[in-house]
Amino acid sequence: MNNDLAATKTLISELIELKKTSNTEIMIAPTFVNLLEASKLLKETSIKVVSQNMHYAESGAFTGEISAKMLKAVGVNAVILGHSERREYFNEDDLILKEKVDKALQESMEVIFCFGEQLDDRNSENHFKVVESQIKNALFHLPSSSWKSVILAYEPVWAIGTGLTATPAEAQEMHAFIREQLADVSAKIATQTRVLYGGSVKPGNAVELLGQPNIDGALVGGASLKAEDFLGIINAG
Ligand code: PGA
Repeated sequence: MNNDLAATKTLISELIELKKTSNTEIMIAPTFVNLLEASKLLKETSIKVVSQNMHYAESGAFTGEISAKMLKAVGVNAVILGHSERREYFNEDDLILKEKVDKALQESMEVIFCFGEQLDDRNSENHFKVVESQIKNALFHLPSSSWKSVILAYEPVWAIGTGLTATPAEAQEMHAFIREQLADVSAKIATQTRVLYGGSVKPGNAVELLGQPNIDGALVGGASLKAEDFLGIINAG
């Protein structure tokens, strides 16, 4: 819930200007009310516009919610699902997320699926179990043909917006574990699925994080709100 319309427009124009030299794949996820303007501004560019959430139903009496079709109608073909704030403050559990994933894929949208452990889970050494169940419960029913539209984003909750970052070794360890879980589905899915890291990624730590063999990209919160910082991360990829 950052950036009103004016701030979103400014950030996008700065980003378009700055990113001209980069070949990194970039997606941006403004709030719902700024999606239409963002897709108009980014129409002629390679930057994709992504929603931060959506509802699982086709349409109907779900006051205040937004459907996949409504997103597609404003040029948004990708959605973030399962962000830790949605899980924590809006009670989105694995079952709801599974329905949302199914709906998004049914509508041919790309899904950026977030998951990650709380600090307590890590301190009690439950972090691998938690991550395993989050991805298994919401995603492992998918047919192999759907996986090309799924991007995973491992975001340890204790590192989101806190300034604490998983060390590159901690992040790599979890990403390698995620890759192993995917290999249980199929070797091809394990190799082809992109797994992003999120949680206080900044220009200063991006090179090392993105240099890890199993980290394919970053999901950036705070640092994406300043075009120059965001570009610093983009250029680290
Ligand atoms: P952060 O946020 O980069 O500010 O930690 C990440 C996120 O919101 O997913």
